[in-house]
Amino acid sequence: MPPKVIFPKQPDLPAESSAPAHSKKHHAAKRDYRTLALQLKPQREGLPIFSARASIIQQVRSHPTVIIVGETGSGKTTQIPQYLLESGFTSNTRAIAVTQPRRVAATSIAKRVAEEVGTSLGGRVGYTIRFEDCSSDKTRLRFCTDGLLLREILSDPLLRRYSVVILDEAHERTLRTDILLGMLKDIQRERARLALLNQQHLELTETATRQYEEPEDHQWSHRDHRSHGTHVTFDTPQEPEKEEEQEEEELQFEDQPTPVIDDVHGDVTGIDELKVIVMSATLDAERFSGYFDSAPILYVAGRQFPVTTYYTTTPQADYLDSAHLATLQIHTETPSNSGDVLVFLSGQEDIENVERLLLESAASFPPGVPALLPCPIFAALPQAQQSRVFDPAPEFTRKIILATNIAETSLTIPGIRHVIDSGVHKVRGFDPRIGESLLVEPISKSSARQRTGRAGREAAGFCYRLYTEADYAQLAEDSVPEIKRCQLSMVVLQLKAAGVADVMQFNFMDRPSKKALKHALLELFALEALDDHGELTAMGRWMSEFPLEPTYAKVIYASQKAGCTREAIDVVSLLSVDSLFYVPADKREESNAAQLVFKSTEGDHLTFLNLLRAYTKVNGDREWCQEHFVNRRNMRHVLDVRQQLNRLCARLGLDIDRSCGTDLDAVLKCFLSGFFHNCALLQPDGTYRSLSGSQTVHIHPGSSLFAKKVPAIFYDQLVFTNKLHARAVSAADPLWIAQASPKLYGRLNSGAS
Ligand code: CDP
Ligand code: MG
Repeated sequence: MPPKVIFPKQPDLPAESSAPAHSKKHHAAKRDYRTLALQLKPQREGLPIFSARASIIQQVRSHPTVIIVGETGSGKTTQIPQYLLESGFTSNTRAIAVTQPRRVAATSIAKRVAEEVGTSLGGRVGYTIRFEDCSSDKTRLRFCTDGLLLREILSDPLLRRYSVVILDEAHERTLRTDILLGMLKDIQRERARLALLNQQHLELTETATRQYEEPEDHQWSHRDHRSHGTHVTFDTPQEPEKEEEQEEEELQFEDQPTPVIDDVHGDVTGIDELKVIVMSATLDAERFSGYFDSAPILYVAGRQFPVTTYYTTTPQADYLDSAHLATLQIHTETPSNSGDVLVFLSGQEDIENVERLLLESAASFPPGVPALLPCPIFAALPQAQQSRVFDPAPEFTRKIILATNIAETSLTIPGIRHVIDSGVHKVRGFDPRIGESLLVEPISKSSARQRTGRAGREAAGFCYRLYTEADYAQLAEDSVPEIKRCQLSMVVLQLKAAGVADVMQFNFMDRPSKKALKHALLELFALEALDDHGELTAMGRWMSEFPLEPTYAKVIYASQKAGCTREAIDVVSLLSVDSLFYVPADKREESNAAQLVFKSTEGDHLTFLNLLRAYTKVNGDREWCQEHFVNRRNMRHVLDVRQQLNRLCARLGLDIDRSCGTDLDAVLKCFLSGFFHNCALLQPDGTYRSLSGSQTVHIHPGSSLFAKKVPAIFYDQLVFTNKLHARAVSAADPLWIAQASPKLYGRLNSGAS
């Protein structure tokens, strides 16, 4: 037996007789939408939120903004949009948008809701995420990422396509959620103003028509305009009481036409109020309410079984090892039908490491030990592999879900009874001196509690914290909102493109520091997205249409002139995943040797390009990937991203076939035109010092430039573990750096070379 992670006492586990019944049902009759929807109905009606249906609808009718708080799994995300759909909140021209901070959540929840509604995905219910649109003109419930809705504001400043916007997972306070909160508030105010104009105009028109067409003794004065415009027929005058009834009934209709108004206020035709619903899984909703002029808060009671929590007796040196061992311990010491295991890790790399360790251990299980099925779930996981997490495990097999904090509140995975909490997550950090970096950091107490809660959704459960009780006591109460700790240039660019002239004055719920805002403005200026007056340049506008950080958008923009758009798109796609190779701990040398064939002396960007070219030549052959330790899952994602980028660039008018062939310096120069902030110069003592903040940066051991000295480097990203590591590093001629941004680094021109 392997060594154990020591918890003070072993859980005493009751065995469950069977897997949750609904997962079996879930499997049945996939082809028949309606049958499946009917089957799911009792489950829908059994959710805690169902009893609040009427009051939710009533509150949303009577207030522009409503805050809804409910325990994870109570049914907020899947049910509330459906309640509104069923109650006539959409029309032929207005849909409901539901935003999620993460792609995986948006797609998997849309799939589930389409099943519950009884329609095909992409029909009445659909999703749109960056690089992927599964929706149509018919879509009335659109799940999307918060970033995507932000981008929609650029082309539809009043969000006319929507009658309701639901901001889900607001407690996470992602950067984009925060910006959306501010923009939605402005849009709501503007639409209310226009709707009022609209209403007044409608009243005037109607009065004029009545006087013209009808005798005076008709009793129309009882009609009020809440009864939605054109389909209301005035032929037979009715008693007021009956009208009330009829109005209620009419609201039940879906797809009602919106009033059409003629010429005078042409630009406000059909504008109506925008309803905003803010949903959160934690109790601190007062701040949202205060921000939206004392919007009402609805609390939905949850259903939570007791969870026994264990701490380790000593701090763990390596949480990945501990997570692996704790999983084996649960798996071998508790009956396999006592529930699945959910392990919280920091990111894709952790997840793939633990997956590998588990598979290696499982290969040598003695007879009689049930099988174990690791199911990873993280943001970049291809859609096809996501559903494995929700599918029931085969018999005598236990699912081990390996997740990032995506499973904390946004996804409810059925069947979990054991949670292993590593105590860490990966966050974006920003320091003007070093730029943006990714950090693996301790979670907050609030996150730890959410993670624990996931074990008690269906029955009593167990949570194993891979840290000591004393360490828990040291955790911060809540996480810091992302807007306070990350790079703001992309959102500042979007705010500018949406017409917010003075971003310093924008109505933030939590104001980022002036320093961070200024830094973003300065970076956009250096990228030439803003001009001397802080206004968007033509290139800035082009960049804002691009669903990428402005740095990448700039690279692709520059590649047109340089004649290497094909290569630029290739490399940008390659940089969209965490790792292209996998390096098993015990085969490090073998793996390094196998990768040598791709190695470019210029560094990682061109090494990656070589890899992609070779991969394409063998058509992604599985054995070839194994031989070369290539991460096939991620390569497929790269191809996906490339295809979408190609489409987008073609739509934005770029010639995507411009290729530089073998003159690859052009590609590196293009990257520098976006990444001149991410440069470091070799020092006499052999270290590299960043240009923007004079910090010592170390080349990541996985880089092809590791152990090599070149006068200057540029890098895609900094990762802080025990020291600052630059990832995806290439050599740069100091002169190129100076040319890339004369505004910032002109001084290099004379000095460094
Ligand atoms: O948003 P909230 O956390 O309140 O709950 P939800 O995501 O709407 O999930 C409600 C219920 O739907 C969960 O308890 C799950 O049992 C079920 N569900 C599911 O079975 N499969 C999915 N893909 C999503 C939800
Ligand atoms: Mg939810």
